[in-house]
Amino acid sequence: MWPFNYSNVIDPLLKNIRVRIVKFAGIKTGDKVLDVCCATGDQVFHYARAGAIATGIDSNPRMIEIALKSQKRYGLSSASFQIADATNLPFEDSMFDMASISLGLHEVEREVRDKVISEMKRVVKKDGSLIFADFKVPLPSRRSSFLIRTVEYLAGNKHYENFRSYLQEGGLPSLLQRNKLKEEKIDNFRDSFLMVIKTKK
Ligand SMILES: C[S@@+](CC[C@H](N)C(=O)[O-])C[C@H]1O[C@@H](n2cnc3c(N)ncnc32)[C@H](O)[C@@H]1O
Repeated sequence: MWPFNYSNVIDPLLKNIRVRIVKFAGIKTGDKVLDVCCATGDQVFHYARAGAIATGIDSNPRMIEIALKSQKRYGLSSASFQIADATNLPFEDSMFDMASISLGLHEVEREVRDKVISEMKRVVKKDGSLIFADFKVPLPSRRSSFLIRTVEYLAGNKHYENFRSYLQEGGLPSLLQRNKLKEEKIDNFRDSFLMVIKTKK
């Protein structure tokens, strides 16, 4: 699906954002956290290094294979990974202190976005947190808009269609409102094309 190697191209680009998300989320030692649509697991490793017991899921077996290889290399026993569908998470209710998703919602259909959010809510305990990171809408500058649209276009027809519907529906703020989640904290990551929102369950 991706016309390039995700670990070598996207992960290095997002390195600073991963670090900022850990701070923004307020991860504490021993927190149980889940990263949904984790791809190569980079965000999960950042959570684990900050002291969390971190789990990542992704439906693409190739991504989980890469994540597991990296985990072995880093020797991070507090990180774990599973192949799973974000619309049907293989976890009991209220298992996690926090669940996050970065750059996952824009890439799925509108109904799937709602199902993923509903599953994230289900597996997070009462008073737990949800973290959402995705493209700002409207895209912040002509240059970033051109680059992002090109990457999304190259990722394939369906992918591009979903990205466009994410933009049309107004991005994270309207998506969260529709799913009855109240924004507790927002970071527009001023120098970035992403926004990050924290909500309570
Ligand atoms: C753009 S990548 C983002 C990955 C990562 N969160 C990041 O910040 O770099 C989106 C990921 O979502 C995964 N994905 C898409 N639909 C999914 C679903 N229904 N369940 C689980 N993973 C899914 C894809 O396999 C892909 O790895």
